[in-house]
Amino acid sequence: MSITQNTIIGIIGSGAMGMGIAQVAAMAGHEVVLYDNNTAALDNAKKILTRTLQKIQEKGKIISAHEILQRFSFANNIVEFANCGLVIEAVVENLEVKKSLFAEVEIIVSNDCLLASNTSSLSITSIAAACKNPARVLGLHFFNPAPLMALVEIIPAIQTDADLLPSAKELMQQWGKIPVIAKDTPGFIVNRVARPFYGEAIRIYEEGFADIATIDWAMTEIGGFRMGPFTLMDYIGHDVNYVVTETVFQSFYYDPRYKPSLSQKRLVEAGWLGRKSGMGFYSYAEGVTMPLPNKDIILGTQIFERILAMLINEAVDALYLKVASTIDLETAMTRGVNYPKGLLQWCDEWGADKCLEKLDKMYHEYHEDRYRASALLRKQSIGNKKFV
Ligand SMILES: NC(=O)c1ccc[n+]([C@@H]2O[C@H](COP(=O)([O-])OP(=O)(O)OC[C@H]3O[C@@H](n4cnc5c(N)ncnc54)[C@H](O)[C@@H]3O)[C@@H](O)[C@H]2O)c1
Repeated sequence: MSITQNTIIGIIGSGAMGMGIAQVAAMAGHEVVLYDNNTAALDNAKKILTRTLQKIQEKGKIISAHEILQRFSFANNIVEFANCGLVIEAVVENLEVKKSLFAEVEIIVSNDCLLASNTSSLSITSIAAACKNPARVLGLHFFNPAPLMALVEIIPAIQTDADLLPSAKELMQQWGKIPVIAKDTPGFIVNRVARPFYGEAIRIYEEGFADIATIDWAMTEIGGFRMGPFTLMDYIGHDVNYVVTETVFQSFYYDPRYKPSLSQKRLVEAGWLGRKSGMGFYSYAEGVTMPLPNKDIILGTQIFERILAMLINEAVDALYLKVASTIDLETAMTRGVNYPKGLLQWCDEWGADKCLEKLDKMYHEYHEDRYRASALLRKQSIGNKKFV
């Protein structure tokens, strides 16, 4: 694969992600073909992109919004991808829809066109299997909003030609992104390692150990995270967050470490999706005052350390199972979800023995596999070996 600035980039799906990725590619100098099978969505994307680029111009960050807009063509027929050198798919998170699109696109484009999916949780290997030449398929997982979030997870399927990876990495760097390589496993890096930030927080709340405001306070004020788990879940939307948890849980053959929670399921069932619907864990109705946290430092520290121990364990286990390298794991969590520190570095600072002790204590208390420590954490705790 040789992708230059002259390569035309095709994007399938003009929703939140497709539109954002299209903006990134056009701002990096490429001509972009943006395709959607829904004309209203395509018109909407055109309006939003025009407004966004004009705003960026007003801020003085680009010279001409018009010049960048000229690089776009808005397509309502997939045949317009014929001259593309890279096509990135960002349609609805449905394996069958994605597979049939990949099979369709492969016939239209040239033999050396690279095909990528922005899926958050589906198997790239399975998507690639829909193609006659699966070696040219890979995952390029951008984060929302794509123009602002620096991280991109590059995911080779087991069929992907390994020679593609350096060029994919280089291309993402040219687009101003920070690429990391992740193994094709459920949730890749970020959506796997971050699961306890939500799951363990909800578990603490369900046990009645603390209320949501106190757990959010503990994680922001004591832990230094930008947002507490309940505020963040309300922000992401429970429909989105719950589906990712459920998909990861199912894909890991129902490993209890990733078990979704009924509290969040009920919110989805009620249509209480978070900020966007005005109600989630918190109420966003006008005039409603937010609940106040219990600022007890001892309680707050217990909450923070319990969630952090679970997060560290997840990162260590991902390293153990070769999901990503140490550096990519640290980069993914600090640049993809803005954690204040890499989890492996946090483990080093805390001491692997302290982390292990916390997990083992919970494991003995609850007798649940959810709290089992990674074999690597156990190894590392002997002599408190460092990861970073
Ligand atoms: N939203 C996020 O936070 C986020 C983050 C990272 C990755 N993703 C992934 O990116 C993908 C897209 O997510 P989104 O949030 O942009 O979705 P979205 O619903 O905003 O947009 C999807 C778009 O795809 C179009 N579409 C659906 N089926 C199509 C088809 N067969 N052919 C052409 N267009 C079709 C729809 O009309 C819609 O405009 C999903 O796989 C999602 O998992 C989402």
